[in-house]
Amino acid sequence: METHLIEFLGLLVRWLHVIAGIAWIGSSFYFIWLDNSLEAPPPGSDAAKKGVAGELWAVHGGGFYNPQKYAVAPPTLPDRLHWFKWEAYTTWLSGFALLGLVYWLRAQAMMIDQNVRALTPWQAVGIGAASMVGSWIFYDLLCRSPLGKRDGVLGALVFAFITALAWGLAHLLGGRAMFIHVGTAIGTIMAANVFFIIIPGQKRMVAAMRAGTPVDPLDGQRAKQRSVHNNYFTLPVLFIMVSNHYASTYSHPQNWAVLMLMAAAGVSIRHFFNRKHKGVYAWQYPALGAVLLGIVAWWTAPRLVPLPPVQGEVTFNRVRAIIGQRCVTCHSPAPTFPGYTQAQGGVLLHTPADIVQNAQRLYQQVVVTRIMPLGNLTQMTDEERAVLAAWIKAGAKMEP
Ligand code: HEC
Repeated sequence: METHLIEFLGLLVRWLHVIAGIAWIGSSFYFIWLDNSLEAPPPGSDAAKKGVAGELWAVHGGGFYNPQKYAVAPPTLPDRLHWFKWEAYTTWLSGFALLGLVYWLRAQAMMIDQNVRALTPWQAVGIGAASMVGSWIFYDLLCRSPLGKRDGVLGALVFAFITALAWGLAHLLGGRAMFIHVGTAIGTIMAANVFFIIIPGQKRMVAAMRAGTPVDPLDGQRAKQRSVHNNYFTLPVLFIMVSNHYASTYSHPQNWAVLMLMAAAGVSIRHFFNRKHKGVYAWQYPALGAVLLGIVAWWTAPRLVPLPPVQGEVTFNRVRAIIGQRCVTCHSPAPTFPGYTQAQGGVLLHTPADIVQNAQRLYQQVVVTRIMPLGNLTQMTDEERAVLAAWIKAGAKMEP
């Protein structure tokens, strides 16, 4: 029952996380588009006299909208200002809760891969937590350092840092956990940018305006730089968040490089859209993105690991015994593996009919990608994989 509650809580938190993430990234995309699409009002017009630097007209949902952006600020600030911060905070908080429920509470199954490093669950969780906090501290110092004044150099350094993080985690955690922790490190940087830099800076700006004292231009510059970073982070982060459905990416021997190629493609494609809002169609960027994605598609195509020759006869009973020993702990209606209350991935392997029905998926997971058994927790041997492969190649029959 307790484990079922944890699972159900996970469902609710995941639902919330997706909703909040859509609200955050949606509003972020909207404002980038808005900022890039503004046009200066005609000189001498009412808007220009009010100090409006850019405006546009839009139609949506049966209404007409006319947002205006002030060069500095309106002469008087209205009492009611919309801030756009809870989207970011809710996304991070729900994401953190989900990370805890799905990965940290089940570190043995979800984070540790004996073939990468034999960590204890506490070590794995510690590494995960350190990667989030440490990434923010390092990134923030980098932005504040003299290098932070040069946008291009800073962008390249941030990319290099994330690459180093992915490489390092790839040598400590299982592929899936490595991906998600690179994602949560970037997500933490994004939310912390909002919480520690952008919102406090805006608060100081508003307070100065209300008090009639000069506004520190550094606050505006910093907020702009950080929100541009957040904008380029969005596509890579969204890929990472859905990547756990695609074992070919995170289970690749050079999974950190696969991750960074996907991230580079995302950044490049995002750059195209940022330019396009300004009316520049820089097709070289999506072309570069497409080339990088093509490389990933080719590079992650399954290459079969050679299996040892099978000794003895391949019978269904033999296959059934192997699956009973290596898979059923997680793939039965009542799994015995700690923390699981239902058949994982919805796949049942406890009856002969279920085994036969799932033979092709089983081949994919055990022989091609070798993702199963998860983290090889049940210590399946290559000889056993060869037996399953031979049985499926011979037609996956229940007899003899
Ligand atoms: C320690 C628990 C565990 C063991 C042992 C295990 N699995 Fe899984 N299996 C999982 C989990 C968790 C998932 C769901 C993965 C996901 O959601 O991406 C899964 C998913 C699957 C899937 C569906 C994957 C897909 O996306 O189509 C198949 C097929 C599968 N396992 C086969 C096997 C076979 C065959 C074995 C034994 C050789 C095995 N599993 C052993 C935990 C386990």
